[in-house]
Formats: sequence, C-alpha cells, structure tokens
Amino acid sequence: MGFKEINFILNGKPVTTTFSEGESLTDILRNLGMTSVKKGCEAGECGACTVLLDGKSINSCIYLADWVEGHDILTLEGVRAKDGSLHPIQQAFIDEAAIQCGFCTPGLILTGVELCNSGKKYTREELRERVSGHLCRCTGYENIINALDKVIGVNS
Ligand code: FES
Ligand code: FES
Repeated sequence: MGFKEINFILNGKPVTTTFSEGESLTDILRNLGMTSVKKGCEAGECGACTVLLDGKSINSCIYLADWVEGHDILTLEGVRAKDGSLHPIQQAFIDEAAIQCGFCTPGLILTGVELCNSGKKYTREELRERVSGHLCRCTGYENIINALDKVIGVNS
C-alpha cells in the first residue's frame, strides 16, 4: 500500500503529513496528536469522530484522508481562544454538567461551535434535532441540551 503526502490547515496552522491510501481523516488526525477525535463506531453512526471541515461538522471516520487536501479542519484542540479562555459552548458544558465519561463531548462541542458560528438562535426542539447524530450513553441528553440552550437557545 503506497503512502501519499497531504497538506491542509489544522486548527489554524498549515500541516503536511503522509497517509496510507484508504486511511480515514480520523486516523491522520489522531496520528497528529488530536486525540479528542474519538474512534467510536467508525461507520458514521455515533458522531464521536466529529470535526469541522471548512466550518461544517463531518464524521471524520468516513471521510478519506485523501479528500482533506487544501481544507481547513478544526478539532476540539483548536476551539479555545488564543488567550486560552474556553469557548462559551465549552464553558456551558461545564456549568450545566453536560459531561460524564466525555467520549461524546468533543464531537458535541464542535457541533455546538458550528451552530454558534451560524449566528442563529435555536429552539430546544431544533437543538435536539441538530445533535441527533451524536450518541451519548451517559447523560440522557438533557444537560447537553441545557448547555447548548444557554448559549444559542432562543431565550439565551
Ligand atoms: S466514529 Fe465516526 S461516526 Fe462513529
Ligand atoms: S458523556 Fe459518556 S457518552 Fe456522552
């Protein structure tokens, strides 16, 4: 199996790396130290591997490394502000106790960041629908929706 070189932007910085043909974006990101990108189902079903590609959330487990050339990738490692302060969505997850084991959390926060960047406000029903691609085995979702509601809800 051959190796190929790829260039893209990772959390605001240009990156050049190599990958094996057929490797997923999840694998190359984890090889680059982005361990917030979780390996769950590896079939596009659970959202644990979510990253933002040019600002839009994708399941990186079903996105081939080959396709990322020239794109902009954001992982949880790049979400904090330059001064180190937490993103409002991260802070809300802490404040609302929306984290238990944490396996689903990076993906959910990235979807929250995407929604936040849209500049829109969402009803709780819309928030539930927007996070429906993320499986959480622990929280029952209520505190996750509370956290998102606090920042991007219609009454926030
Ligand atoms: S690990 Fe990618 S969707 Fe589950
Ligand atoms: S906090 Fe454990 S899977 Fe969501």
